[in-house]
Amino acid sequence: MQLSEIQSRLNGQKHSEFGDVLAVSDDNYSWLPGGSIDLVLTDPPFNIARDTNFHTYEKNTINSFRFDKDKGWDTYTPEGFRSLLGDWSKEFSRVLRPGGSFAVFCADEYLSDLINALREAGLKPRRTLTWRKPNAVPVNRKHMMMSACEYIVLGVKGSKSVFNADVDTRSDQQISAQEIVSLADKASTVLDLEIRKGLNRLGSRPTPDEIRKIVENVISREASAAAERAVKIYSDDGNSAELCVPNYVAFNSKAGNRLHPTEKPVQLLTYLAELFSKPGDLVLDPFSGSASTGEAAAISGRRAILVERDSEFFNKGVERIKKIIGESQSKLI
Ligand SMILES: C[S@@+](CC[C@H](N)C(=O)[O-])C[C@H]1O[C@@H](n2cnc3c(N)ncnc32)[C@H](O)[C@@H]1O
Repeated sequence: MQLSEIQSRLNGQKHSEFGDVLAVSDDNYSWLPGGSIDLVLTDPPFNIARDTNFHTYEKNTINSFRFDKDKGWDTYTPEGFRSLLGDWSKEFSRVLRPGGSFAVFCADEYLSDLINALREAGLKPRRTLTWRKPNAVPVNRKHMMMSACEYIVLGVKGSKSVFNADVDTRSDQQISAQEIVSLADKASTVLDLEIRKGLNRLGSRPTPDEIRKIVENVISREASAAAERAVKIYSDDGNSAELCVPNYVAFNSKAGNRLHPTEKPVQLLTYLAELFSKPGDLVLDPFSGSASTGEAAAISGRRAILVERDSEFFNKGVERIKKIIGESQSKLI
């Protein structure tokens, strides 16, 4: 479906179109025809502000961002939130084409509710990807173990979905986002194993110096061996990188110069877009915040529809997309 057709269905909603990205200021997308979307890639409200005390942080800053309780987009009652998960899932199911995929972010607290809601809406949740955040901020750790992870429920509508684990991009001298993740996963697993082995060989009370030596040794000796093994795996097969696509990934969450308090890393969204859709496919993010998904779509050559109800975030997202599409216009035409 063409973006111009979708624009003609809007009923006066404020919107902006840049190349292959359409951003709409709205709190729903009933104007979107059923079966028109290839991938729903979205990060809805998590309803965890109450638990994390994010809403009491309006006088503080976390990575320079001021949390604003008046926005009220993350403070539902648990029952109200479960009911919203049901409504959102029904809409995902309506707009996805048969064989379309979804990747929906969620906190651990509501993971089973989201999976059930998606299933009840007729979708097939298949895997839960764990996103580990090495730079997670330990807010409020005195009261409860903090989570350094978020979760992404992956699945399909119907069958015959797109899964590009064996994508081969070598012909145009590029390495895909999923190949990078798979190779890094392989290398870090080897390092992890070797460091554990080394540390286990030390006595029960190793000195900091002994620990440092083990880690340094492993990094200098094993890192290059791990890299060589990974490259061998990558180049052995004539057609594809025969690597396991891990069901966890590690990306730093966005820190500094943030446009949104829960802004997602573009590399992670690009990874998901490349795995679960084809170039030119239409991606929907109905909770688009600062338009990170729009940036990921532009990078990966997908088209995107972004929906955001908060005018401040919508405007920031539009400015962001304008800048990116302007810079990579030739790629998108
Ligand atoms: C978790 S944030 C998304 C952040 C985004 N991934 C980013 O990187 O900037 C969720 C967003 O959904 C928006 N939102 C909440 N309810 C909405 C609704 N019914 N329709 C559209 N947007 C909504 C909020 O204003 C918020 O910006």
